Amino acid sequence: MLEDKERWNKRFVEFPMPEHVTGILEKYIDEVNVGEALDVACGTGRNTHFLADRGFSVDAVDISDYALSKVKKHAAINKIDADLDKYNIMPNKYDLIVNTNFLNRRLTSQMKDGLKSGGVIVFETFILAHGDFKHETTNLDYLLRKNELLHTFIGLDVIYYEERIDVNLRGEKVKLASLVAKKA
Ligand SMILES: C[S@@+](CC[C@H](N)C(=O)[O-])C[C@H]1O[C@@H](n2cnc3c(N)ncnc32)[C@H](O)[C@@H]1O
Repeated sequence: MLEDKERWNKRFVEFPMPEHVTGILEKYIDEVNVGEALDVACGTGRNTHFLADRGFSVDAVDISDYALSKVKKHAAINKIDADLDKYNIMPNKYDLIVNTNFLNRRLTSQMKDGLKSGGVIVFETFILAHGDFKHETTNLDYLLRKNELLHTFIGLDVIYYEERIDVNLRGEKVKLASLVAKKA
């Protein structure tokens, strides 16, 4: 959506994303065969850069041209400027698919199909919560429900799953779900 592009271009300037790799990806990277990776909604590339440095070839997809301009030029990084509301993941291509701080339910079955046998998915994003919890988005469709992430990928071999309370970039309390799972 054009609206997403404009909103995210503006937001990256106001709230730059951290540059350090997502903790769960760093922790479980040794579970993954080095090869082809997909970083879904890669943002400014913190996870893409980590994977390229580890020897992966990375397809880094995002709608924000501002964010993609911050992704380093690197022989192993293929920047893809695309709308994930329409983009389709190539089946049976990836050793690793990473999705952090983003949710598009249309893509979850494509992610399973996109993994090679033995491929791993690392997925972490926000859960709808109530009370003291703040939400970066006003569109509740972008938030997971309780246990949803586990249910979505239950057909894979789940290596790790957690739902926990954390703090976002603005210091607000949020709920996060994290999953690492392998395709048999
Ligand atoms: C919170 S950022 C997360 C970035 C990165 N995954 C990370 O954890 O650092 C969400 C990203 O989703 C991208 N995004 C939002 N809607 C999109 C769409 N329809 N198509 C592609 N990317 C989109 C934004 O541009 C932004 O880079």
